[in-house]
Amino acid sequence: MALWKKKPEAEVDFSRLPRHVAIIMDGNGRWAKRRGLPRTAGHAAGAENFRTIATYCKEIGLEYLTVYAFSTENWKRPVEEVSAIMGLLKKYLLEAIGRMERDRVKMRFFGDLSPLSAELRELCLETEEISKRYEGCQVNICLNYGGRDELLRAARAFALDCQEGRADPGHLTEAAFGQYLYSAGVPDPDLVIRPSGEVRISNFLLWQSAYAEFYFTDVLWPDFSKEELHRALAAYQGRSRRFGGV
Ligand code: FPP
Repeated sequence: MALWKKKPEAEVDFSRLPRHVAIIMDGNGRWAKRRGLPRTAGHAAGAENFRTIATYCKEIGLEYLTVYAFSTENWKRPVEEVSAIMGLLKKYLLEAIGRMERDRVKMRFFGDLSPLSAELRELCLETEEISKRYEGCQVNICLNYGGRDELLRAARAFALDCQEGRADPGHLTEAAFGQYLYSAGVPDPDLVIRPSGEVRISNFLLWQSAYAEFYFTDVLWPDFSKEELHRALAAYQGRSRRFGGV
């Protein structure tokens, strides 16, 4: 008899997928450390896994995938690590632009792109511009993104609209406020996944995740396989979503 048993395959009903899955791609540093590699090797493995998972999400017909690539707080990391992550993003965007007609994935960036290098910022804008005509699958990359920063910016923009007579504070609704967020036009995430064993939100989609289901796993992001995604989707499908009702 085998001394260990493989975890059972998760049963996913592909006709009842969440519309929008969001992922905090955490654990790259620890993945590298366990292998005696520099942290940047972990980010490279994480970027590779992002490609695999994003492609798979499109294959199974997921409408929206949002990933946390770089937070407003990640600038505190050593400069070499920040440049390695920016380098991986650049590499990915160049590839994405090159095969856009084949992949036909709409891409958006959530975050303040102004502190990025002019080259990276241009690549982000170009990717958004070219891909905006595609429909079916949308990938949102949170880049220099912070949930609190997003809410502050939205509040400032709304206040300005009030000051200039374009909006009325007495008539502000949740839907109208949502239009001031980076995620304007995108439905809220149904499922937020955080690998790596950390059990916190880390300033990710604070407004949008109000009624999201959460899935946490100890698996590190570079090891988060399609099978792990199946487990997350199966867990989601087993939840009863009441949105505050009964
Ligand atoms: C968190 O793991 C990961 C990041 C801050 C960077 C994520 C970036 C990528 C996956 C690469 C670029 C992305 C794309 C979309 C091409 P961590 O470093 O905090 O891990 P640790 O907690 O184990 O140290």
